[in-house]
Amino acid sequence: MAALIAVFGTAATVRAASIDHSDGFEFFENKIRPLLVERCFECHSTSSKKIKGGLTLDSRDQLLKGGDSGPAIVPGAPEKSLLIKAVRYGNKDLQMPPKHQLAATEITLLEQWVKMGAPDPRTNTASMQAVKAASTHWAFQPVSDPCIPTVRNARWPSRPIDNFILAKLEANGLRPNFAADRRTLLRRVTFDLTGLPPTPEEVTAFINDSSPDAFERVIDRLLASPQYGERWGRYWLDLARYADTAGDSADYPIPQAYKYRNYVIDAFNADKPYDEFIREQIAGDLLPAKSPEDRRQKIIATGYIALARRFSVDPQSAHHLTLEDTIDTMGKSLLGLSLSCARCHDHKYDPIPTQDYYGLYGIFNSTRYPFAGSETKKRPADLVPLIPAAELEILAKPFQDRLKAIDEEISRLEGERETLAQEMLSTREARERLAAANETRDDLIATAPVLDVAFAVSEGKADNARVQRRGEPGSLGEEVPRHFLQCLGGQSLPKTETGSGRLELAQWLTSPTNPLTARVIVNRVWQHHFGKGLVQTPSDFGARGRPPTHPELLDYLAQRLVQSGWSIKALHKLIMLSSAYQQASLDDRDYGKIDPANDLLWRFNRQRLDAEAIRDAMLFVSGQLDFTPGEAHPFRSEYSWDFTQHSPFTAIYETNKRSVYLMQQRIKKHPYFATFDAADPNSSTSERSISTTPLQALFMMNDTSVHEQAAHFAARLLSQCRSEVGRIQIAYALAFGRSARPEELREGLAYLQHHSEKLSARVHSPQERKELAWASFARALLASDEFLYID
Ligand code: HEC
Ligand code: HEC
Repeated sequence: MAALIAVFGTAATVRAASIDHSDGFEFFENKIRPLLVERCFECHSTSSKKIKGGLTLDSRDQLLKGGDSGPAIVPGAPEKSLLIKAVRYGNKDLQMPPKHQLAATEITLLEQWVKMGAPDPRTNTASMQAVKAASTHWAFQPVSDPCIPTVRNARWPSRPIDNFILAKLEANGLRPNFAADRRTLLRRVTFDLTGLPPTPEEVTAFINDSSPDAFERVIDRLLASPQYGERWGRYWLDLARYADTAGDSADYPIPQAYKYRNYVIDAFNADKPYDEFIREQIAGDLLPAKSPEDRRQKIIATGYIALARRFSVDPQSAHHLTLEDTIDTMGKSLLGLSLSCARCHDHKYDPIPTQDYYGLYGIFNSTRYPFAGSETKKRPADLVPLIPAAELEILAKPFQDRLKAIDEEISRLEGERETLAQEMLSTREARERLAAANETRDDLIATAPVLDVAFAVSEGKADNARVQRRGEPGSLGEEVPRHFLQCLGGQSLPKTETGSGRLELAQWLTSPTNPLTARVIVNRVWQHHFGKGLVQTPSDFGARGRPPTHPELLDYLAQRLVQSGWSIKALHKLIMLSSAYQQASLDDRDYGKIDPANDLLWRFNRQRLDAEAIRDAMLFVSGQLDFTPGEAHPFRSEYSWDFTQHSPFTAIYETNKRSVYLMQQRIKKHPYFATFDAADPNSSTSERSISTTPLQALFMMNDTSVHEQAAHFAARLLSQCRSEVGRIQIAYALAFGRSARPEELREGLAYLQHHSEKLSARVHSPQERKELAWASFARALLASDEFLYID
């Protein structure tokens, strides 16, 4: 019987001890924490001048561990708890606090609390231990400098990368594929670096160039073309959840967002060192600048933070979610970590305690975000001037004065009309005057000066944040010093820092001791070259992500990136000059059984073109692509904005420029992008889904834009050559980078013939029939697998 009671007793204690639901935390925060701070911390806190009795009371763990005489509390059992004995003053040798006994009600509270199981959310030491324990995960280990593996087939490798790939293939009894033929290779590399097909002349030149460095020169040429940044910048914009609108339900436009977009494209074209690129986006406004233009660009760079999503029509009410979006995007895009999982509770899988989330939160909460305008406050605010503020004012003042005058006039006339209406008098004249005034206003707005400002962040009121219990801003816990993730070094702000801490954060993110930043970006570059990363969860390097298929190769690339001064272009070359990259994509049934996902890279992965590349390639072969870089979108003047959640902003601005320059709304996707799996600008996108849907086939068959491009393509063929066979050859060269085979010529001719005959009943002009038949032929090429896929 005694044994049984003991068992029950223990069970009860354990149950009580594990209570940590919010009621308990509430009780602790309201009753216990203030008591401990006021009456005990003078002598029992890690921050005390001198710690007495070896006891600190700053966290639950410390209480459980206790001081010189052992545990201070036994959760659930006040009678057994030393702390309770001490405050009761029952034992003359231990009376706490020493000078004045606590009030009887205070002692009761402590007893009650211990009885409840001593709920206490202060987990810093506990989570620090958890951080230490969990930090053994591969991704948190320093980047190693692996030796280059030896391989049996020493002739295949042309770069060290190949040794890493081949060693694994050989270990699994596999051999690499043949080298891709030159035409395939050129098409692959041209799409890969620029998102466009090669011209027929480029194909011929490469096929005929037998010099040993022919391929390297192709890579250099493509890396130097402005189309490179338009392709690779787009990948970054996916990660930065770039959009031209704010994202609340009225989706207000952000007319300045394009400046950040162009900054990203320019940064890739200029091969801006990647660490610098990050520092500018986190804290460009706080970095020294070499020139006024440099300063301008660095401010624009912080659009990365400023473009965080907005969730409420009210400017401030959901700001904590905008900060969550910032932290989430930063964690995923730069570190491959899902930091926002630590907003409401310690991360359940990765060593990221809630403290770390609010350590970062404090930094962004000390930062001032721009405001795009919303249903309740329709004009933008807090944009950052790119020229001295005084100059902006001089530019804006005359216009604003006139606008103010006319707005006053309008409200006077509105009042007048209403008074007249009440007296049942004729209001026609009043109506006309009001209409005239509104027209004057519209004319005036059309002359509004476009001010040189950026949708960027600036410094706000610097302060640490307090933990928001269960992620609720109304339920505040302890204050957390602004600091970096403990699993990556845990650096905190110097005492002398008076700013937000973004400047330090920018350094911590790119510190040589942080292994994640380099690993994550080399994996992304690899991912876009090969169709998937060495780590196949490119934005999750944590415990729930997939481990790398080639860990040593990943570290080798990360090492090389840092050694090259963080040059992304050098990394492209390093990868593309390997034999692994230059393999054919030919399938092999036996190999497919051993490694169906091609994780070991026994062949190149066939890839579908992404949304932008499909559209750009169509415009390119039809001769309609406008290569000029995109600038601002033609939004209506902000002085006319009146969008609401029931009448949100929505627009499509047509252009023949590259797709990266199309206006991208957060809430309402561009219909073309929606059909072809473009990135969702609502959150950081690391991998686009590749769907194959009937909708896409219908789009290629019926959409007016495809018909238009096919017609242009046909017109191009008709104007370029008089013979039908010649035109078919040109069409194949432009669309596929190769000549048509004899049977394709026959089929093409038959198709044209057949199509013209079908048209003869309703189209009488032979010229028109010819144009329509060729447009139909062109459409068939544009919708073909060979056009849409890269081998
Ligand atoms: C002015 C300093 C001072 C304050 C305030 C104070 N203590 Fe102490 N405490 C001590 C000293 C000194 C000791 C070492 C034992 C002794 O000399 O009595 C001690 C020891 C203890 C111990 C025993 C530790 C061990 O393991 O030996 C407990 C439990 C304790 N204090 C609880 C508290 C609590 C609870 C409060 C607040 C309600 C508190 N003390 C406030 C000075 C203080
Ligand atoms: C808005 C607040 C919030 C966010 C953000 C959040 N959680 Fe939770 N989560 C909760 C609450 C509340 C519970 C239930 C109480 C608990 O276990 O702490 C919970 C429970 C869990 C549990 C089950 C707990 C257990 O021990 O069995 C897991 C697993 C979990 N969350 C994972 C995640 C992951 C992964 C993320 C990020 C993708 C995340 N959570 C983000 C609020 C949140």
